[in-house]
Amino acid sequence: MSSLTALLSDIVGAAFAACDLPAEYGKVTVSNRPDLSQFQCNGALAAAKAAKQPPRQIADRIVEKLQAQPMFRDISLAGPGFINLSVTDAWLAEQMNRLSQDDRLGMPAKQKLMVVLDYGGPNIAKPMHVGHLRAAIIGDSIRRIFAFVGDETVGDVHMGDWGLQMGMLISELEIRHPELPYFDPKNTGPFPADSPVTLRELEELYPTASAACKADPARLERARQATAELQDGRPGYRALWQHFFDISVDAMKRDYGNLGVHFDLWKGEACVNDLIAPMVEEMKAKGVVEESDGALIVRVAEESDKMEIPPLILVKSDGAAMYSTTDLATIVDRVNCQNPDRIIYVVDHRQHLHFVQVFRAAIKAGLNGKASMVHLGYGTMNGTDGKPFKTRTGGVMKLDDLITMVSDEAKKRLTEHGLGSDYTPEEREDIARKVGVASLKFADLSNNPIANYVFDLDRFSRFEGKTGPYLLYAAVRIKSLLRKAEAQGDKPGAIIPTAATERDLALMLGAMPDAIIGAYEDLAPNRIADFAYTLGQTFSSFYAACHILSEQDEAIRRSRLALCALTLRQFELCLSLLGIETPDRM
Ligand code: ARG
Repeated sequence: MSSLTALLSDIVGAAFAACDLPAEYGKVTVSNRPDLSQFQCNGALAAAKAAKQPPRQIADRIVEKLQAQPMFRDISLAGPGFINLSVTDAWLAEQMNRLSQDDRLGMPAKQKLMVVLDYGGPNIAKPMHVGHLRAAIIGDSIRRIFAFVGDETVGDVHMGDWGLQMGMLISELEIRHPELPYFDPKNTGPFPADSPVTLRELEELYPTASAACKADPARLERARQATAELQDGRPGYRALWQHFFDISVDAMKRDYGNLGVHFDLWKGEACVNDLIAPMVEEMKAKGVVEESDGALIVRVAEESDKMEIPPLILVKSDGAAMYSTTDLATIVDRVNCQNPDRIIYVVDHRQHLHFVQVFRAAIKAGLNGKASMVHLGYGTMNGTDGKPFKTRTGGVMKLDDLITMVSDEAKKRLTEHGLGSDYTPEEREDIARKVGVASLKFADLSNNPIANYVFDLDRFSRFEGKTGPYLLYAAVRIKSLLRKAEAQGDKPGAIIPTAATERDLALMLGAMPDAIIGAYEDLAPNRIADFAYTLGQTFSSFYAACHILSEQDEAIRRSRLALCALTLRQFELCLSLLGIETPDRM
């Protein structure tokens, strides 16, 4: 199975081939003049250029060939050689019935690739905030799309758990509690199994430590020293690090869980520490490393560069590894563990230069195995004032608080729409959270990832317009309709489109694979969001124009129920690819 345009492209492509022209010219698309035809093919124009023949003449020959095909109800020529095509209801019915039978809803199979996705990046001891939200929402959706299309996917949270912030925390705690066993340099353990700090204390420790280091160079030096000793393996520091790590990971798992974002791997920067030294040696041996002012660098500039790409700093003059160094070692780790065909990084677009340097250095040193690497940068999440999104008091909003905020808004809207009054309090909470998270995710994913987007709670929580709640409500309404049908003993039957709105709906349903493949190829979940919204509108027109449960003709009633059931499956699939759960009722 594939989309209707793919099926028709095969047929029209064969007509081109029969005229001794490349079949690629037979590409069929949905018509951009639906008032004239359902589909179109513009290939005659390109073929004419290549074959140096008049386009009209080529188009005429193709049309003649297509006339023999029974699935076309109407074939006509427009302009200099556009071929307009419309199909018979019988063919459309046949395709819809095949689609209904297909577990993959028309998605063709493809060769499986191993893909590692990096879309976490939360930092230990710093509360997870909205900066990491877009990575999680976009990356998790891309992982779901890839898995559905047919790849093997591994989502890695890649925590920021190494580097200076850890030294800041350790030295801050040491100043406050020098009596703790972790700070005795002679103590090699074992250390207490219980953490000396709670999550709350940890969250307070970091901003204090970071402010102290900013204000006082001596404190900064002390934090640097602690970082170096930690990386060298000082036992007390390592034990403390482990506690910080454990309590942070618990909190992250809870936050990501509430958001419905999944990771397969809970690795961080620290776990590749031991790979760094051998990697640096290997890179030296390969001759890709240079010394510069006591530091080790990799030159990554290329002649065709339009802007200056500075060298990557592999090892600083004080011997410290950098963010780039851990990213390179992480590539080595991924090649060792997953041997991926692709690695996709969903990280703030402001880190683009960093990834250009890392990818080029990895390729130059041959560290990336067979993996191609891409950075999918996303834009900033702004408030309605156009500035980066903050809490009302100007602070960074914690993910936890954000989820409460969207759920509360959803609760308010549900009440406004007279929904949910007969639910148990638990059900209400559950539905409000699902609707709230849907509004948040859909608002994010309906934009192109690279664009900045405006966090406008009022707009994206609405039940009307291009919003998550609108789509959920459309899906839930079909669920309830199908339950009613079942209660009155009606089952979906064979699809036979007869009304114009049924045909439109069938054409939409037959286009879903194109949207998903587009999202997959361009790393653009917004294609699926757009498709789901258009499907919602097309379904609404059908629903407004056609009787369903009250239709007297049994065959038509059952056909319409089948269209409803198929629409619901596609809604649920699209929403799940966006990481959105559909409740049973609202
Ligand atoms: N921890 C980093 C930050 O908060 C993001 C990490 C992104 N992933 C990576 N492989 N560099 O900025």
